[in-house]
Amino acid sequence: MNIEEKIIDETRQGEAFAPITGDSPGDTRKLYLESYGCQMNFSDSEIVVSILSKAGFVTTESPDDADLVLINTCSIRDNAEKRIRNRLVHLKGQKRDNPNLKVGILGCMAERLREKLIEEERLVDMVVGPDAYRDLPRLYEEISTGQKAVNTLLSREETYAEIEPVRLDSNGVTAFISIMRGCDNMCTFCVVPFTRGRERSRDPQSIVSEAHDLFAKGYREVTLLGQNVDSYKWNMDNKGAVKNDGQPVVRFAGLLRAVAEVHPDLRIRFSTSHPKDMTDDVLEALALHDNLCKYIHLPVQSGDSDVLKRMNRGYTREWYLDRIAAIRRIIPNCAISTDVIAGFCGETEEQHRATLSLMKEVRYDMAYMFNYSERPRTLAERKYEDDVPNEVKSRRLQEIIKLQSGHAGERTAAQVGRIYRVLAEGVSRKSENELFGRNTYNAVVVFERGDIQRGDYVFVRVTNCTRVTLLGEVVSESVAVKEGFVV
Ligand code: SAH
Ligand code: SF4
Ligand code: F3S
Repeated sequence: MNIEEKIIDETRQGEAFAPITGDSPGDTRKLYLESYGCQMNFSDSEIVVSILSKAGFVTTESPDDADLVLINTCSIRDNAEKRIRNRLVHLKGQKRDNPNLKVGILGCMAERLREKLIEEERLVDMVVGPDAYRDLPRLYEEISTGQKAVNTLLSREETYAEIEPVRLDSNGVTAFISIMRGCDNMCTFCVVPFTRGRERSRDPQSIVSEAHDLFAKGYREVTLLGQNVDSYKWNMDNKGAVKNDGQPVVRFAGLLRAVAEVHPDLRIRFSTSHPKDMTDDVLEALALHDNLCKYIHLPVQSGDSDVLKRMNRGYTREWYLDRIAAIRRIIPNCAISTDVIAGFCGETEEQHRATLSLMKEVRYDMAYMFNYSERPRTLAERKYEDDVPNEVKSRRLQEIIKLQSGHAGERTAAQVGRIYRVLAEGVSRKSENELFGRNTYNAVVVFERGDIQRGDYVFVRVTNCTRVTLLGEVVSESVAVKEGFVV
């Protein structure tokens, strides 16, 4: 496994297996669903299962006894696609043993490659893009008769707003809520605008009511998802289409405040913020509500303004650092994470060092770090040469990873000694007798289980740490109040 894949695995951007969601009466059909890629894809898979369960499917944990296997795919980097392709070749073998098995591909790779996956490689029976999931039951009927089916139409309106997701792989405590789809930014390296289409926001009322519903079911944390949450906008009178005519518009800060008011015990996180659009009113909302978690993922990509310009990111190094300063000013101690790309087209050694120096200035809590991978049809592919040799990319990436690893260690160690309010999420991987949860800064905290249940809030005094995990002891509320704690 190379470093890049390992990073993806560690961040749970691997595969998820859908659990069985109900009893299986004789005539129901069985669906096996596997998801790759970002949180949006995992969230979309929950929409897909909801749509197909209404059409009579139940999910199964093994492709062996499935009637339909769906793979929800990612195109972000070449190795993401390669991995999925291997999986499809493997499944093709499985189809030989079970001629009734149908295989469908969903998500970004479906949108990018369309008919090619059927015509050239005959790998799958069905290709369905991210905006066409409502059509899945009809498309399945089509392939049941031995035909092939494709729907990769992108939409300007689809948000699946009223579809209640079937929570997969769920701990019953944390859940995703998709608040917008698509992206209008056209960063030159990025395939997402091509695979996900135009940006559109979801009705805030449907978002707030989904949050209420989750809280009522026992969930205690929601993550609001979008490619660029800071450009969320909804015109209350115009059903989403924003016009400049003074009608009331809900923007991201307003949405955050509305979701924060669902219940003080519902924690809210969000991803992803875009440095060019992140405004102070979002930060002020965070500062105002204890249940808006003090953690911001603010991808920088590069620390050099010329590289950022070639990436079409819409900000300079100075602008980015100004946004970091605003976070530090308005939300002291806020945790900050980022994404970095090593070896973008034309990146010089000096420009690479600018990325390292920016990282030293910010001292990120966490980062996702990647080698640049050229993607077909993107502006970078058309306009620039992918001219940084692979060895150089990898060496630069190593330097970035090494630096970040030190910063992450520092940030973790700085949290030792304090008491945090932690939401218990599940049993620790290392011991049945320990639970893990996260504090507001998104740091994982491990503590003794006692009679604490998932979904409980506990006060934990952090006594020790590894590089990225905090270890601590549970203390009573009165001790926490007496000594002071971080909410
Ligand atoms: N909307 C988010 C990012 C979504 S993609 C944002 O704008 O920040 C997640 C990350 O994948 C990006 O932040 C970028 O660091 C990385 N990425 C995207 N395209 C890439 C490519 N062609 N090669 C390498 N990394 C890429
Ligand atoms: Fe891709 Fe840029 Fe949109 Fe993020 S903001 S999804 S990197 S085009
Ligand atoms: Fe991948 Fe598509 Fe997400 S390309 S990162 S699954 S939006």
